[in-house]
Amino acid sequence: MGGCVCLQTKIIKYIKIGKTSISIQKVKAFVKPNVTMQVYGCNKDGPPVKDLPIAVMMFKPLDLAQQLSWAIATRENKSFFDARAYSRLILQGSRAVQDPVAVKFIQSIVDDIDFHQVINRTQHLADFLSSITEWLQQHTTNSIVGIDRFQPDFSAGTTQSFDSFYWRHRNRRMRCFVGEYFYHIKTWTSTATNWSFITDQDQLQSGDALVLSVPFCDTGNQPDNFDTVIKQCEQLSIPILIDACYYTISSGIDLDLTSPAIDTVAFSLSKAFPVAHLRIGVRYTRDSVFDGQKLHNTINYNNIFGAYIGKKLMTQFKSDYIHSVYNEKQKQVCNQLSLEPSASVLFAVGDSKWNKYSRQHLLDSYQLDFDPKLFVNRISLTGVYDNWDIFKTVTA
Ligand SMILES: Cc1ncc(COP(=O)(O)O)c(C=O)c1O
Repeated sequence: MGGCVCLQTKIIKYIKIGKTSISIQKVKAFVKPNVTMQVYGCNKDGPPVKDLPIAVMMFKPLDLAQQLSWAIATRENKSFFDARAYSRLILQGSRAVQDPVAVKFIQSIVDDIDFHQVINRTQHLADFLSSITEWLQQHTTNSIVGIDRFQPDFSAGTTQSFDSFYWRHRNRRMRCFVGEYFYHIKTWTSTATNWSFITDQDQLQSGDALVLSVPFCDTGNQPDNFDTVIKQCEQLSIPILIDACYYTISSGIDLDLTSPAIDTVAFSLSKAFPVAHLRIGVRYTRDSVFDGQKLHNTINYNNIFGAYIGKKLMTQFKSDYIHSVYNEKQKQVCNQLSLEPSASVLFAVGDSKWNKYSRQHLLDSYQLDFDPKLFVNRISLTGVYDNWDIFKTVTA
């Protein structure tokens, strides 16, 4: 039998794994040694042929993370190759959980509205902005100090605030730490903006502008050097943009905004709730700023529907809702998969055994040419939370 597919019938040409039919040749290429897998024969695209167990010799066993990814990928009706490609992405990215309670609530809002009436009522923008600061501050394990020194504007996710910051500080050199959100790097490289990573050889200098995510994009944790960096920026009069996109999904984060060097702070609802495509966010800047984004805020030329949904979500759920609901699950997954839990509940950090979950794929899709070893193996747990029954089965 050594290394071959052993069939109990000669007529079977395809097997079914999950909902995917795979030809025997493909299975041979896919399966791994020393593990015997029981699968059942079926006709191509037809129903499974009953009780035809096929013993498949595996050439290399799938590890737990791969089994989990494969089981999740095949849950949806994909072809073998689509499922394989998808399974490689399941533990990556940073999308929000499809939390069933939040999903049901969002659906109920939409079911109830007169859409035309909602999108023509600018008051929803004001309602959103007058609630969000207090909502963010009510997070039970994180703290924000000094936000009262800033004025809020509606923002299309945190991203609109980034674009406004780059533009307002276009005569400065843009700076960030290695591991920062790739959008910045993509934008700077594609617009020939002067920028560079902060390194021991290339430190912050006067004339720079700094983008810093808190929690930090690479790990989802509080950046270690936050206070030192802020002090340095104060001394060198470097304006700072704080990207607090992960704030609501994290715990134990202290966001001290009292430094005069902090120019912009941006939050969004994109990671806490499955509404990233509605582009709901807020930007805080100083009184003196009157740029294009502020102008649109002043004349109510913004996403009223997003603001409406955002306000409803903030009324229904606390800002630490997602963290409090998934925190225990994060510990269980990390325990089973030997991962380090991140302060951001959607993530975990993997050691070198997790190198196949590096940022290579993301770098490719952003068309950025960096060595993925520069970045931490940040594992996304969203797909596992969304398929909790599979996690329980695979790890039983
Ligand atoms: C660290 C970080 N910042 C900002 C964003 C932008 O998200 P949004 O514009 O939806 O707030 C993302 C999205 O993945 C992100 O990972």
